[in-house]
Amino acid sequence: MASKSTIPIITTLFFFFFFKFTFSQPNLEPDTQDCNNRWIHIRRLPPRFNLDLLTNCSEYPLYDDFCPYLPNHGLGQKTHNRSHSWYRTDPLMLELIFHRRILEYPCLTSDPTAADAVFLPYYAAIDALRYLYGPDVNSSSEHGLELYQFLQNDAPEVWNRNAGHDHFLVMARPAWDLSQPLYKDPPIWGTSFLELPEFYNVTALTFESRAWPWQEQAIPHPTSFHPPNLRLFKSWLRRVRRSRRTALMLFAGGGGVSSSPNIRRSIRSECENSTSIDISSTGYTRVCDIVDCSNGICEHDPVRYMRPMLQSSFCLQPPGDTPTRRSTFDGILAGCIPVFFEDQSAKAQYGWHLPEEQYEEFSVFIPKEDVVFKGLRIVDVLMGIPRDEVRRMREKVLELMPRIMYRKHGSSLGLRTQKDAFDIAVEGSLQRIKSRLQEVSVQ
Ligand SMILES: *[C@@H]1O[C@H](CO)[C@@H](O)[C@H](O)[C@H]1NC(C)=O
Ligand SMILES: *[C@@H]1O[C@H](CO)[C@@H](O)[C@H](O)[C@H]1NC(C)=O
Ligand SMILES: *[C@@H]1O[C@H](CO)[C@@H](O)[C@H](O)[C@H]1NC(C)=O
Ligand SMILES: *[C@@H]1O[C@H](CO)[C@@H](O)[C@H](O)[C@H]1NC(C)=O
Ligand SMILES: *[C@@H]1O[C@H](CO)[C@@H](O)[C@H](O)[C@H]1NC(C)=O
Repeated sequence: MASKSTIPIITTLFFFFFFKFTFSQPNLEPDTQDCNNRWIHIRRLPPRFNLDLLTNCSEYPLYDDFCPYLPNHGLGQKTHNRSHSWYRTDPLMLELIFHRRILEYPCLTSDPTAADAVFLPYYAAIDALRYLYGPDVNSSSEHGLELYQFLQNDAPEVWNRNAGHDHFLVMARPAWDLSQPLYKDPPIWGTSFLELPEFYNVTALTFESRAWPWQEQAIPHPTSFHPPNLRLFKSWLRRVRRSRRTALMLFAGGGGVSSSPNIRRSIRSECENSTSIDISSTGYTRVCDIVDCSNGICEHDPVRYMRPMLQSSFCLQPPGDTPTRRSTFDGILAGCIPVFFEDQSAKAQYGWHLPEEQYEEFSVFIPKEDVVFKGLRIVDVLMGIPRDEVRRMREKVLELMPRIMYRKHGSSLGLRTQKDAFDIAVEGSLQRIKSRLQEVSVQ
């Protein structure tokens, strides 16, 4: 018992001191010219809105203990002792990862009136656990009210300057989990944070946006790859380029075992049947690989799926409980061309990170209805793509790769010259806030 409760506390203290320490360091001397229109103020929040929330990491009865994923500022433990770039990263930790990274953003200001945007270092999805899986399940419409109270009572002028339109935060869950209609009785699923009028003006970075989003924007799920310097990044890129793609396509995931027709089931049956397909002239040795990730066994074990993804030309990314998947980003890291079955899986989501007009260059789209109900075979579509087209698409995937990875905090200056998922998320937030403020001032 004793050791169970001390570990998280030690971790928290470590985080606490680290953040303290970093705050008191002078920033890298910013080039103020470059900082024009890019100044960010990090709102100081009491630890109950962030670091304290980590102490209860083992105490959600219906949710796995997430204490093991806290080390390395939320990257998790390294996959092996000698690994420099690979971690057992849990996506829920994006709020910590983002918080740590924003501390090294070059254009921070302690003066809120000089800021173009205000970042709220609130661990929103971690705080959501007590409503989703904990004692507060019956008051999930209150998620966020405490934060709003704080912002109104403590230095209210920071909020009032732009009525919250210049504030942004990260919420490491699909918006679906945070947008239950207010006062739904009985509660079905999710908290109502994104439904609270109090937060309508705030930009929320989520893993997935609703079909008609207003305040949220989807950003990539974090993967397990967090290189600290350009040399390690480039050596991974070389490995991906060199890798022999011996399978045409791969599906890593679970599901598809129910009897009702759905896209995962179609994929499964196509793969199981694929051994009879003649591929002797294609250069592949297998049509389809399946990595069974049922019961979450792949989640913190990237070796299980990264190796097969390196050996496959195409990675199938069907929707599951929700349309988006972390696997889309794992696949891109492996140079495996994504195959999407609905626009909500990526194209309608990640406008900042994966430009919408480039989807045809780096991905394949096969409407799920055509597969499930019209008998279209995925294999036939993919085999119909000429080999040099496949090569071009893979190069495009590799070109986009830096944009969806979260590099390690404190990484080398060389690697910082490439924009990563964090940089693009911050840039997008600043731009969106700017245009929002213009809209509001026009009214
Ligand atoms: C942690 O859990 C305990 C017991 O469930 C609760 O009293 C406390 O308020 C929780 N702390 C936080 C920061 O959520
Ligand atoms: C990895 O490092 C940990 C802690 O430093 C150590 O306990 C463990 O034995 C090491 N494992 C290997 C395989 O070297
Ligand atoms: C939530 O409400 C339901 C229905 O009223 C009740 O059965 C349940 O015990 C409540 N849960 C908690 C944690 O209070
Ligand atoms: C959100 O913005 C609108 C328009 O600027 C403003 O009227 C409203 O009070 C703001 N909401 C909050 C909670 O500040
Ligand atoms: C798989 O093969 C079986 C037996 O050959 C056949 O009945 C079934 O329709 C095939 N399924 C698909 C999806 O091709």
